Amino acid sequence: MSDLIGLPERASKAAAQVDYLFLFLIGVSLFFAILIFVLIAYFAFKYRRRTPDQVGAPGKEPVALELTWMLIPFLITIVMFAWGAKVYSDRFYPPETAEKIFVVGKQWMWKIQHQSGAREINELHVPAGRPIRLIMTSEDVIHSFFVPAFRSKMDVIPGRYTTYWFEADKLGSFPFYCAEYCGTDHSRMKGRLIVMKPAAFAGWLGAARPGESMASQGEKLFTQLACGACHQEAATAQGPPLAGVFGKPRPISGEKTIMADESYLRTSILTPGAQVLAGYQPTMPTYQGQLNEEELLQLIAYLRSLGTGERKQ
Ligand code: CUA
Repeated sequence: MSDLIGLPERASKAAAQVDYLFLFLIGVSLFFAILIFVLIAYFAFKYRRRTPDQVGAPGKEPVALELTWMLIPFLITIVMFAWGAKVYSDRFYPPETAEKIFVVGKQWMWKIQHQSGAREINELHVPAGRPIRLIMTSEDVIHSFFVPAFRSKMDVIPGRYTTYWFEADKLGSFPFYCAEYCGTDHSRMKGRLIVMKPAAFAGWLGAARPGESMASQGEKLFTQLACGACHQEAATAQGPPLAGVFGKPRPISGEKTIMADESYLRTSILTPGAQVLAGYQPTMPTYQGQLNEEELLQLIAYLRSLGTGERKQ
């Protein structure tokens, strides 16, 4: 059906949901556009002026009719709103269990790191039937990650992490594109998403022979930058201990608490003064400029692994 009307192939259930909504919107619009045109033509004919001196007569106010033509469109637009909100929020909130893969966009390529340490450029291998969450950022300007087969895209923005999640249900190779004009070779900033059976994917990951996982590369950076000089378990340490921090709410001096996710750790490393942990002094220097985006992701992978036992797979 989807190729009948020129839509790209679908590779996830979510894509079908977007298509159904899209077809519904098109269908409703077409129905009313045609209805209105037909009625215009019909009434123009029926109430045409028959003699040159004919004058129109005022009609009665048909209250029931007016209510009907307000209520029906109102109900239809509420359906559109609720349906659209559902499709959107399904896209927006990845399931907790989603496997994370890290994407860095730069003029003009996509760089991908798997947690195992395997890396790819302009290719993204994923297992079918498993939720995958891409955590994405850009090294330079705004890009946008777009997989037509999933019917969804997300901006890739320098200085922050954005999320794109999907669950592919079809094996094969599907194109992805940059969907935000980002300079000369924007149109070439594209790649292939390769959906494999989970077992084949595990084989691929093994053969990609990364050497070291992201977390253990991050551990090296942690040592190199001497983060451990301040971040110790001891209560007298200058910096808070880091084990088991990931995924927990953190009390920030001032008022609020922030969930310790990738974005929180990123901010803590690059602009430590912005969210000082309650009970600590803002003594940490910034590490802006000392780590590139991929290293930053490795360091964060290491911090995430601390105290979770997922370390050094
Ligand atoms: Cu990157 Cu367009």
